[in-house]
Amino acid sequence: KINLLYDCDPGIDDAFTILMLRDPKFNVIGISTEGGNVPIEATTRNAILLKYIANLNEEIPVIQGVSLPLVVKEKCASEVHGETGIGPKNYGFTRVKIENEEYNKKAINVDENGKVFKSGILCMYEQIMGCKGKVTVLATARLTNLALLFTTFPDVEEKIERITIMGGSLSKGNVTSSAEFNIYTDPHAAEIVFRLGTRLEIDLVPLGCTHLLHYNEKRLNLIKSRLGETTFSKILIETKKFCLKAMKELSKFDQNKEVESTEFNELFLPHMHDPCSCYYLLHPEMFQTKRLVVHVECNSETTRGAIIWDNLERNGMKKNVLVATSVNVEQFWEKYISLLKIVNKD
Ligand code: BDR
Ligand code: CA
Repeated sequence: KINLLYDCDPGIDDAFTILMLRDPKFNVIGISTEGGNVPIEATTRNAILLKYIANLNEEIPVIQGVSLPLVVKEKCASEVHGETGIGPKNYGFTRVKIENEEYNKKAINVDENGKVFKSGILCMYEQIMGCKGKVTVLATARLTNLALLFTTFPDVEEKIERITIMGGSLSKGNVTSSAEFNIYTDPHAAEIVFRLGTRLEIDLVPLGCTHLLHYNEKRLNLIKSRLGETTFSKILIETKKFCLKAMKELSKFDQNKEVESTEFNELFLPHMHDPCSCYYLLHPEMFQTKRLVVHVECNSETTRGAIIWDNLERNGMKKNVLVATSVNVEQFWEKYISLLKIVNKD
């Protein structure tokens, strides 16, 4: 089994990833949150809600992490993920909370009034150290929690199997022309984590790879027909449709024309970014990879958050990150739908 700590900022595609944690290969030891797609109070609330929707073991702790990036100002993405982070209020996943009293539960380090009474970083450390075997960390948000965890408690390194990260881009970005959201929103934290790669196994699943997993009406219809008309499938499709609409609204393309071009797919269809990195843990053999020297531009105004990569080991810089360059698209969808089937209920 993979002992898994999942660090996330739900976020629609993070929410879809929580649904994948039902895979029997995972032993989930905790879900920690970052601010990101929306501020941290909302990502924590969403993580708790999705844990409930996915029917994950009650005992799995949700830990609220640090609320702000290390150096740069906070930047969120509610224009893509909706005001709640998982769509508009009372729609899609957020519809579930109305009937769900469990939803009022808090993260293990947050009190009744929403105040953090124990450091999230300390809670993450305790969870990892308390685990019998080594722990894999899946990180699909900015890397602030991890940067602080490894600098505060360096001894945690011996307990780490690998760190798999969704983030970055070896070519075009999605926030600026060169930077991807998770890295752009805390480049300093990302650089700290990538530097661990000379001692620990670090995998990066960047945009070029996740862009292969976009969805459109056709894909939604397939999911619908495979899951049937259950409450869960309706809620899931609603959430996916919200994302599809939000992305199209942001686009400058004619909305009535679904152009099948790489440029259109990359820019204006919603992607399964975070689920792609989760799939990497389940089926690494379905990916093509290359080991590279990977660092982050932290100081430039124009290229902040860009990934600086090299396939050589120049200037004594060691190859520190295994980068996924492509994924078997059809196999991904098969696996994803089979995991949704486990969660699917009326
Ligand atoms: C990443 O940014 C977030 O908006 C998504 O959840 C994903 O983790 C993609 O750039
Ligand atoms: Ca995310």
